[in-house]
Amino acid sequence: MQQNIILIGFMGTGKSTIGRHLSQTFGYSLIDTDQMIVDQQGRSISQIFADDGEEGFRRIEAELLQSLSNQSGQIISTGGGIIGSSENRALLRKLGYVVWLQASPSEILERTSRNSNRPLLDNDDPEGTIRRLLDLRVPLYRETAHLCIETDQLNFDEVTTGIIESARYFFAAQQ
Ligand code: S3P
Repeated sequence: MQQNIILIGFMGTGKSTIGRHLSQTFGYSLIDTDQMIVDQQGRSISQIFADDGEEGFRRIEAELLQSLSNQSGQIISTGGGIIGSSENRALLRKLGYVVWLQASPSEILERTSRNSNRPLLDNDDPEGTIRRLLDLRVPLYRETAHLCIETDQLNFDEVTTGIIESARYFFAAQQ
């Protein structure tokens, strides 16, 4: 298994922000899969969905994940739907210590309503969409993660500290 920390979880659970904190504190460099896709494609996530549909986006996302498979010493923050395929789930666990950031539907709604760059929630019923997608995805996040952190009542420092301590134990036990 590679020595990376991988953040998974629904949109709006703080993966990018926690990823930045972790990278500064742990001294690992930061990879954000959505940002890499935007940089490589020269298109926003919304534009990719508009041009190629969700299916096209998932193909690009899966290829990117495969290209990371020999990396080590990275914090890898992922898009919320990356756990959809069993190939991706297996790859994520090979990449290292997988941390699932969890938040309640109301917290997710509040955090995601602050910007409009999430095509899957750009409809008349974002709350219903969040609940429906969570029902489908929670078992997949659970099956993929080594650690789950419930973030509603914690600040970013508390989440970061919890991840760092448990990741140290995890990596030490692997040696
Ligand atoms: C998606 C989450 C987004 C992005 C895309 C699809 C999803 O990433 O990959 O809009 O299916 O949940 P974030 O979780 O970083 O918002």
